[in-house]
Amino acid sequence: MSRIFASAITAAVLGGLIALTACTGGKITSPYTIETGGNAARGAQLINQFRCGACHLIPGIHDARGMVGPPLIYFGRRTFIGGEVPNTPDNLVHWIRSPQSIEPGTAMPALGLTDQQARDVAAYLYTLR
Ligand code: HEC
Repeated sequence: MSRIFASAITAAVLGGLIALTACTGGKITSPYTIETGGNAARGAQLINQFRCGACHLIPGIHDARGMVGPPLIYFGRRTFIGGEVPNTPDNLVHWIRSPQSIEPGTAMPALGLTDQQARDVAAYLYTLR
């Protein structure tokens, strides 16, 4: 009896999810589902390579314990980048490539990442949430 009840609930929940997926065209968007066009695993390697960790505490990156810039803990939940612009994928890529063009005088240097490298790094940062 309760088993039938449980499977009815499961069916109802699944049905709801399928309907939700259909409504959003297969993409369930939330503030935490963020498309950067990058690859997070490659981003983690690049964060090592470019030594972002010399200045930032970055969860999941070996030896990334710098205290020059803000810790990037929960970066995917951050509303603003550098307190300047909304935390969108394009703004983040722009920030990573050229922080000075968003915030003149910031202590964060442009490190010479390509657009694709910045997208990969951004993809990793958005996993921090
Ligand atoms: C020489 C030190 C330095 C290096 C290296 C550096 N940053 Fe930064 N970063 C900073 C500083 C300082 C800030 C704060 C900028 C501000 O708000 O003026 C910052 C800010 C940021 C922010 C915005 C944080 C927030 O809370 O809004 C992100 C994201 C970021 N850096 C990512 C990176 C990435 C990715 C790399 C490597 C590609 C990197 N940084 C390398 C110093 C550095």
